[in-house]
Amino acid sequence: MGADPIGASPPAPRAGTEPPPPSLLVIFGASGDLTRRLLIPDLFGLFLDGLLPERFAVLGVSRTPYADEAFRAMLRDCARETGEAKFDASRWDDFAAGLHYHSADLEDPGSYPALRERIRSLCAARGIPGNIIFYSAVAPRHYVSLVRKIGETKLAVPSEDLPGFRRVIVEKPFGRDLASARALNREMLGVFHDGQVYRIDHFLGKETVQNLFVFRFGNGIFEPVWNRNYIDHVQITVAETLGVEGRGDYYDDAGAVRDMIQNHLLQLMALVAMEPPNSLDGDDVRGEKLKLLKSIGRVADERVGDVCVRGQYVEGETGGKKVPAYRAEKNVSPDSFTETYAALRLSVDNWRWAGVPFYLRTGKRMARKVSEIAIQFRPAPSLLFKDTECGQIDSNLLVINIQPEEGIFLRFCAKEPGPGVCVRPVDFHFTYREAFGARSTPAYGRLLLDVMHGDPTLFPREEDVETSWTLLDPFLRRWEGDPGHGLRFYPAGGWGPPEADALLQEGRDRWRRP
Ligand SMILES: NC(=O)c1ccc[n+]([C@@H]2O[C@H](COP(=O)([O-])OP(=O)(O)OC[C@H]3O[C@@H](n4cnc5c(N)ncnc54)[C@H](OP(=O)(O)O)[C@@H]3O)[C@@H](O)[C@H]2O)c1
Repeated sequence: MGADPIGASPPAPRAGTEPPPPSLLVIFGASGDLTRRLLIPDLFGLFLDGLLPERFAVLGVSRTPYADEAFRAMLRDCARETGEAKFDASRWDDFAAGLHYHSADLEDPGSYPALRERIRSLCAARGIPGNIIFYSAVAPRHYVSLVRKIGETKLAVPSEDLPGFRRVIVEKPFGRDLASARALNREMLGVFHDGQVYRIDHFLGKETVQNLFVFRFGNGIFEPVWNRNYIDHVQITVAETLGVEGRGDYYDDAGAVRDMIQNHLLQLMALVAMEPPNSLDGDDVRGEKLKLLKSIGRVADERVGDVCVRGQYVEGETGGKKVPAYRAEKNVSPDSFTETYAALRLSVDNWRWAGVPFYLRTGKRMARKVSEIAIQFRPAPSLLFKDTECGQIDSNLLVINIQPEEGIFLRFCAKEPGPGVCVRPVDFHFTYREAFGARSTPAYGRLLLDVMHGDPTLFPREEDVETSWTLLDPFLRRWEGDPGHGLRFYPAGGWGPPEADALLQEGRDRWRRP
């Protein structure tokens, strides 16, 4: 792929069809959890599937001193341990030959000339025509200075010795409220064009999430009922059984709304509810997603308590093991008011969805690890069955499972065999594993491939991020002024505070217990 005079992303073919152009992936935060546990194992998975370009290399950057060999050995152990990519020991060495390491403090301006030289010599040695992807896998407090220094060192633009494209991947959280997200966007866009910035939300890389498009717009039977006339409400759940897992310092400053709702859950909601785009082109898809985010009803500060219940776990039991309260976790303040659970009732103020509540819920230390979107249809008139022994008939339910088992099920009524008329709900099941057998590309792998191809479709834009924060700012303001406001406590291993039931319509709907 040729050099681009401003280093912006060239138009790209859809990812997955042909190998991406040669590139160097520079990961800042190379000794960290994300790199070890997700990025490298997923890249290895891409390598095993033959999806990486022939000329490709990784340059890991962090302060811990490693020689290349020690870095590879450390990553090998992690890749072997992680279950996601099938570990093929016989292919590891070929893959690992492309892994390199450079020890540097990214806050020190003096680090960058040597880093630039290392990038240049690696590109030359591996025949990479200066295409560079920077991955910011460090704590958010480093984002601004990292981007500034990349700009000051002239690494953000093509040069004679490094003539290719430049792209930058930024991890969540993208800001901690509207003002900080705007400031961060301003900094990023002072150095890169928006087309070069890939704000990663790994939920959007999951197969089932992408299948939402195909499911909704590739089948004739669902879209006609995908509206207020047929759908009663929508529940989006992302429940984890884990606690803060050693990330207490980050989490205690963030909480569930910033950590999960602002990005993953609102993005899922946008995909479920958006209008069909004109094409699968990145701009068309992202344009429709943004329109949807903008039509979510704003919540006034004084109404926050009516539409949101937040909670924090106390000690309890998960997976048969006793677990401590959130406040007893490492690096968490013993009198913390941070929420580890949040449930929201939102509306979409447009023609398709007026009057249909969207319930969003996420929590740590919940009863089960599950991410799903449940579409509850309106009940059928049950007049026909009113004089039979079946009584109340369940409404149809469509559930899109995102994890742990990617798939879809549809619940409908069937007559129980035997005399008389007794109606019982039964399920149609589809799982990716059963239908397609083969392992699907893990989410980070899929998204990294998209960045290499220059395909931004699955990455939230500046405006998406700011619109989500605009929506959540009233909640954050309310709790900042009164940190304990409405905080409920729930035992670890349950389904969150019972007060969340009151969010549902007039006691008629229930939270699912998947
Ligand atoms: N881990 C996950 O599952 C996950 C999921 C989603 C998003 N994220 C996001 O990904 C980012 C990284 O998370 P993480 O869990 O990998 O964090 P982490 O385990 O704490 O790793 C942080 C990395 O930053 C490096 N670092 C810190 N200060 C540095 C400096 N001055 N110069 C150079 N390197 C420096 C550290 O290496 P040295 O100490 O060796 O310098 C380490 O490699 C965060 O923004 C997080 O929110 C993580």
